[in-house]
Amino acid sequence: MAGVEFSRVRKEFGGFTAIEALDLRIEEGEFVSLLGPSGCGKTTTLRMLAGLEFPTAGEIRIGERVVNDVPPGQRDIAMVFQSYALYPHMTVRRNMEYPLRKRGLPAAERQASVLMAAEMLQLTELLDRKPRQLSGGQQQRVALGRALVRDPQVFLFDEPLSNLDAKLRGHMRAELVELHARLGRTMVYVTHDQLEAMTMSDRIAIILAGELQQFAPPQEVYRAPANRFVAGFIGMPSMNLVDGRLAHGSGSWQFMAPGIALPVPALAETAVAGEACLGVRPEHVHIGAGELQGRVQLVEQTGHENIVVLAVAGGIRLTCRTPASMIPRMGDTVDFRIDSERVHVFAPGDTGPRLNLPA
Ligand SMILES: Nc1ncnc2c1ncn2[C@@H]1O[C@H](COP(=O)(O)OP(=O)(O)OP(=O)(O)O)[C@@H](O)[C@H]1O
Ligand SMILES: [Mg+2]
Repeated sequence: MAGVEFSRVRKEFGGFTAIEALDLRIEEGEFVSLLGPSGCGKTTTLRMLAGLEFPTAGEIRIGERVVNDVPPGQRDIAMVFQSYALYPHMTVRRNMEYPLRKRGLPAAERQASVLMAAEMLQLTELLDRKPRQLSGGQQQRVALGRALVRDPQVFLFDEPLSNLDAKLRGHMRAELVELHARLGRTMVYVTHDQLEAMTMSDRIAIILAGELQQFAPPQEVYRAPANRFVAGFIGMPSMNLVDGRLAHGSGSWQFMAPGIALPVPALAETAVAGEACLGVRPEHVHIGAGELQGRVQLVEQTGHENIVVLAVAGGIRLTCRTPASMIPRMGDTVDFRIDSERVHVFAPGDTGPRLNLPA
């Protein structure tokens, strides 16, 4: 078993810097997701770990060993690619057992491993087909199966569930979590789906434009996002982010924006009066009573709750959740309040740091 460490890792493609200076230490046996928008450098990071791409600077370790100069085949990792990269002329069975054949495992052992993985991935019926006779989702599962049978020190997954339908994705998510619990292997999982990252990971590394924004367990990322970008990226529906101003008076902070005036919790010493951003989770906006008013602009009934969008003054929109039985009428003006104990305050800018005192 082995952990993984990136130290000051930089990656340039020609004149373009894809990764700035990545420091990331993944513990042995940990399930870590690399999460971020398209083009932020997730695949590049994973490919460097796999040995398919060379860092421009910095060091990558698997266990104690610096692997910068170790060829992919000697790193004891298995990677499931974003494109599945199956051998087109081989059957599903052959594709899955390929790494075991290369290792010279006897037929009976190969057979047992393949059957176990096929069972888990619902591929048993498809073992004798060729990749071109499979749907995208089925091909993706074969690629997963080929990694599973290898049982390496470190598993690398690059959006392995992206081509599955919602139901199968949910099923596979649970299977992977269970697999991780059973094998206890280090797993690095790339996704741009925050729900996947939240539900599967021990810790999430959130990346924007090649820079690490936060590396923390899902609950911490949700409750105490390090900056405005993380705040908006994690959570569905997204956190409300309202631009306005901070003022300080008689020992406490106030936030003000058109139609909104609100005391905010204690802030760090770096907080200054002036421009700031208020962050409010939809579950912390309560319709029914309160000193604020908004017009109901949209009601989405999901079954167990409603997602309601309120138009406040100055073009501000606030998304909130209401219980299933509480369905506001579109166009009505309603009273609401914001749970001011639970709000976040961010410094100005797309990645303005969170200014709340640590909880
Ligand atoms: N071989 C390459 N040559 C030049 N630029 C590259 C190369 N590979 C990646 N890039 C650039 O590096 C950046 C990061 O790419 P990467 O594939 O790591 O993104 P990603 O986070 O995996 O995105 P996605 O979610 O779309 O898969 C992108 O801007 C991409 O265009
Ligand atoms: Mg990618």
